[in-house]
Amino acid sequence: MLSTLRVTSRQAVARESGMRALLTGVRAGSTWANVPQGPPDAILGITEAFKADSFGEKINLGVGAYRDDKGKPYVLPSVRTAEDKVVASRLDKEYAGITGIPSFTKKAAELAYGANSPALKEDRLAITQSVSGTGALRIGGAFLQRFYPHAKKLYLPTPSWANHNSVFKDSGLEIGTYRYYNKDTIGLDFDGLVADLKAAPENSVILLHACAHNPTGVDPSQEQWRKVSDVVKEKGHFAFFDMAYQGFASGDADKDAFAPRYFVEQGHNIALCQSFAKNMGLYGERVGAFSLVCASAEEKKRVDSQLKILIRALYSNPPIHGARVASTILNDAELNKQWLGEVKGMADRIIEMRALLKKNLEDLGSKHDWSHITNQIGMFAYTGLKPEQMDVLAKEHSVYATKDGRISVAGITTANVKRLAESIFKVTG
Ligand SMILES: Cc1ncc(COP(=O)(O)O)c(C=O)c1O
Repeated sequence: MLSTLRVTSRQAVARESGMRALLTGVRAGSTWANVPQGPPDAILGITEAFKADSFGEKINLGVGAYRDDKGKPYVLPSVRTAEDKVVASRLDKEYAGITGIPSFTKKAAELAYGANSPALKEDRLAITQSVSGTGALRIGGAFLQRFYPHAKKLYLPTPSWANHNSVFKDSGLEIGTYRYYNKDTIGLDFDGLVADLKAAPENSVILLHACAHNPTGVDPSQEQWRKVSDVVKEKGHFAFFDMAYQGFASGDADKDAFAPRYFVEQGHNIALCQSFAKNMGLYGERVGAFSLVCASAEEKKRVDSQLKILIRALYSNPPIHGARVASTILNDAELNKQWLGEVKGMADRIIEMRALLKKNLEDLGSKHDWSHITNQIGMFAYTGLKPEQMDVLAKEHSVYATKDGRISVAGITTANVKRLAESIFKVTG
């Protein structure tokens, strides 16, 4: 009896291990058997941890999207009006041209470069609609990879928006870096920046954040931009601007566009990426533009033809709805004025939250110098908090943000700023 039982169970084990071998065999034979598990996206991880936290007063400062003073996503009233107009006009859903909707790109160019820009007056700006700012960067990366006549290496500031590295690497470019942020001053390492631009080989491609540097919130002053322009010119470098936050930094779209406009005025034939995600709140609509300032109208025609060839193979042509909404705003004087007021409203709320956070920290008796919070600009503040401190903020205070100490000021409200300051104070003293 005992031996019969033993045989039966041995048979069962053999059957089970046979099944296991079969399953493993099937898995090993799968086409994707060797695809490694990738790391989770840092921001998405924060959102998940935030969602899983049951504390009623939890604060999410990870996401790079504007929130109103109630902590809610904000659709701009000008966007609502424009969208109603677009829907009411019952337009067809035919494809746009490869470079998008001309009434949109024309006005996007004016917004970025200024209506009186020599590049526009002399008809030497090649511009295309893009899948928001990221798509613009990707088109730019692909164009450089195909046509840039010097080393195909692009220099990023340290640190930079994390996706820059991925986008340009996937475009086939090599990545270099230049110094930008000084962690001791929590400000700009201007000397390091200039020294690195001077040390880079001639004709290097330099990526510059036009305003509201992400993730540090640290921008060069206008005087410093002039110097950067001189060095870039001296070395024959190519200036590649990423302008994801026009109007969102200072509240004034012209002021925020100072750097690219100054470079063009100084004779640089720049590349420029624009996003309407933040300044129009059109995040998910994916509205943007990529442009190249050319030497002449004839050169522009050639560049334009190659942009079309490149984009045709990438995604054929861009989505139309968001661009129609943006175009409606940019082409209607009244609506445009209203929109600029709303952008200023968003920028002002962020500036106010910076001041409130600093004041609350000071009122608590913090001995730290928090002036960087108000000196920095745009959606993000680099607090100077260390990864361990950010961990404590999350675990003990339910305040969630990236480990590098970056907080999205857009997530601060008049209702949560006091508790946020108290949490930071408990962690930093
Ligand atoms: C510096 C920078 N560039 C580009 C982008 C692109 O954003 P989007 O593709 O949503 O326009 C962002 C968004 O966070 C950014 O911070």
